[in-house]
Amino acid sequence: MSNNEFLDLGYQPLANKYLSKREKWKRTNEETYRLKVGFNNQTKLVSLYKKIPVKKMFNDTYPYKSSMSKTMLNSFLSLSKKIKKRFNPKMTLEIGSNDGPLIRNFKKNEIICVEPCSNLAKITKKMGYITFNNYWNYDLSKKIKKQFNKIDLIYSANTLTHIENLKDVFKSIDNLLSKHGVLIIEDPSLLECIKKVSYDQFYNEHIYIFSSISLNNLLEKFNLEFFDIEQLTTHGGSLRFYIKRKSNKKIKIKASVSKQLTKEKKFGLNKLSTYLRFKDKVINSKKKLILIINKIKKTNKKIVGYGATAKATTILNYCNLSNKDIAHFVDTTPDKVGKFMPGKNIKILKYNKKLVNNADYLFLGAWNFKNEIFLKEKNFIKNGGKFITHVPFPRII
Ligand code: TMP
Repeated sequence: MSNNEFLDLGYQPLANKYLSKREKWKRTNEETYRLKVGFNNQTKLVSLYKKIPVKKMFNDTYPYKSSMSKTMLNSFLSLSKKIKKRFNPKMTLEIGSNDGPLIRNFKKNEIICVEPCSNLAKITKKMGYITFNNYWNYDLSKKIKKQFNKIDLIYSANTLTHIENLKDVFKSIDNLLSKHGVLIIEDPSLLECIKKVSYDQFYNEHIYIFSSISLNNLLEKFNLEFFDIEQLTTHGGSLRFYIKRKSNKKIKIKASVSKQLTKEKKFGLNKLSTYLRFKDKVINSKKKLILIINKIKKTNKKIVGYGATAKATTILNYCNLSNKDIAHFVDTTPDKVGKFMPGKNIKILKYNKKLVNNADYLFLGAWNFKNEIFLKEKNFIKNGGKFITHVPFPRII
């Protein structure tokens, strides 16, 4: 077997399945799965063992909206400017357009949205953008090709790693991308995840976490190659891969490509031993976080969760933290408010300053937006409020 298990995060509920009050009382029905992670010695891919059917994850009630954060809006705005300046595509396609933070920076006849969650697809349709409310697959690529012919630029952020059949993903892209077309993929970086011990990047939707090594191996099969790789701070450290056809010699390959590949090899992302060491760090991280929370509880201080993220679901369930540990969460996303964290009885309240200022400690569920949050909560900090984070190691800030 070329796949090697290196991490077991126990039984977990579906990470973005926030429970309503009614669902909470019917708790016995809450679906759980065993969250185990493996490393494939041949392909160098890191993936989850258990794959949840897509319809259970991406449907008409998907609560995550990327435009909820200023950081993401700014990131998409600057990317859209860059795309226009560097590539000037006639037609762009976004796979996983969510509620439209990127596409809103394009004209309506310049971009096509693909979004399987109908509640989100409705939003971009209403904004007047061509939207395919479908899962990304070969049939859809054929349909789009028939209607629009070939596409100059395909972009996808935090989406392709959510699709089980990666061969079909790239076959469909290959089918639609023009001869001199550019593919841009953006996803959390495995190197950053391992370095930061951010094991909460693992949950049912993140079937894969890409390294440039594993993605490079995949691209080979489709005669595609990187020509640039950018480091981003979004989602706790992401990589933006710029990809072209090997036959396209017009675009030069930048030094950033070999730099990233070498960095990852030096770190050992191509070896199982690195992942086994990561596992030990995860176990230690859990112990330390529980210790910190128990110590605070003894002083009768109040801990509130900040950002009811899918990532937090992994932490709460792996570290077995309940409403006895974290009084409630605060979040700005309307579809999460009034619900409960999956697997745990912790209520999500609508964000307001008073709730924040009434807390003694804020547990950073959205640690990836730390800078944005620290800026927003200047007063809480000024008044002696503290944050708890587990990244890169459990500590009080
Ligand atoms: P993510 O880490 O999966 O992108 O989710 C971020 C969550 O944090 C999302 O539910 C919105 C929430 N959030 C807040 O409630 N307040 C904030 O200031 C920020 C930046 C995020």
